Amino acid sequence: MTQIFAHRGYSALFAENTMSAFLEAEKAGADGLELDVQLTRDGEIVVIHDEKVDRTTNGHGFVKDFSYKEISRLNANKKGIKKEPIPSLIEVFEWLKTNQLICNIEMKNGLFPYEGMEKKVIDLIRKYELSNRIIISSFNHYSIVNSYRLAPEIETAPLFLEAIYMPWIYSQSIRAKGIHPKHSSIPDHIISTTLDNGIAVRPYTVNREVDLKRLFRLKCTAVITDNPVKALKIKKQY
Ligand code: G3P
Ligand code: CA
Repeated sequence: MTQIFAHRGYSALFAENTMSAFLEAEKAGADGLELDVQLTRDGEIVVIHDEKVDRTTNGHGFVKDFSYKEISRLNANKKGIKKEPIPSLIEVFEWLKTNQLICNIEMKNGLFPYEGMEKKVIDLIRKYELSNRIIISSFNHYSIVNSYRLAPEIETAPLFLEAIYMPWIYSQSIRAKGIHPKHSSIPDHIISTTLDNGIAVRPYTVNREVDLKRLFRLKCTAVITDNPVKALKIKKQY
């Protein structure tokens, strides 16, 4: 059965990458969450998509230039009424211990390398004993290789924007157990052959009914969607 992963939480209805979006995804019945992490100036792992805080909060500037204390004062629910802070990964892990959700952590270390980020994230995963419920992904495939080197017990999955030739061979070569492709870049036969080779396929970001139906029909391992309620409803037909 294809699992439903809530992209940045239940971001279709709630402010992305906030505790509300994560809680609502769980309430909706999602199997997992996808979230993005960056590092503050003082090395705290925070959950935010962009390198800058401008789009999603009432602040300005790069995440890497804020201390954790400074960044935690910002409001990540710009359009809503209730103030929502940017969560730390610790906060998310404290909550994850109270449920059974799978958590896909995307390391946003493409633009800034965030020295030591993989180790920090992995140390925290181990501290909270969440290794068997975490999937580390990144567009930075060096980071995927490094994560596996540091923690072979934690599943990894490279992210792809473009189509890739024989992704099952590539992922095996970097010891990744899955791939996270852009859904529109991966044709049916590549999905099927990748799955047949024992590699998980979790396409992102799948919001349209027609696209969800294609991926359910192909029995993808999971879909990463902004709207878990819609995806779960459509999944019932499969
Ligand atoms: O993990 C899949 C997806 O989140 C990657 O793209 O830009 O939404 O982080 P983006
Ligand atoms: Ca992401």
